[in-house]
Amino acid sequence: MVQKALFVCLGNICRSPIADAIFQHLLKERGIADQWEVDSAGIGGWHAGNRPDSRARNVLKKYNIEYNGRARQIEDEDFHEFDYIFGMDENNISNLQDQAPIGSKAKILLLGDYDPQGERIIRDPYYDRGSEGFEVCYQQCLRSCKAFLDQLEQ
Ligand code: 4NP
Repeated sequence: MVQKALFVCLGNICRSPIADAIFQHLLKERGIADQWEVDSAGIGGWHAGNRPDSRARNVLKKYNIEYNGRARQIEDEDFHEFDYIFGMDENNISNLQDQAPIGSKAKILLLGDYDPQGERIIRDPYYDRGSEGFEVCYQQCLRSCKAFLDQLEQ
């Protein structure tokens, strides 16, 4: 059975593409990519059609992780389609909970709740002047995605 995961942040050009790319990479490493459908989306649609922020692309390149996704805005249909919808911060979660249609199946989860180091909030690095925040975001997403998959495999 195919499981479906959607990673969501505010703009879909920084945090959620990083999480999406890492998750897909981990699935390939574990040989289970054919058991999953994975995507990302933004609460807002301001960047729809755009590639991720160059700093997000650079951190993925640094770790040899491929990503060809383009930004899109989340739609009501996604809540029926996906099994898991991960938000990056508390605002994402409350926006997702507000938008979720009654009776939709998606479990809305805070990705950082899976972080073994307990860093629950994946802070938005978009307005940072530098790229250090993207490295932090990468490491947080990596730890949480690994732990989420480990927990499913148990
Ligand atoms: P993200 O960062 O939610 O991690 O993709 C943002 C990117 C763009 C905007 C906000 C957050 N924006 O307002 O344009």
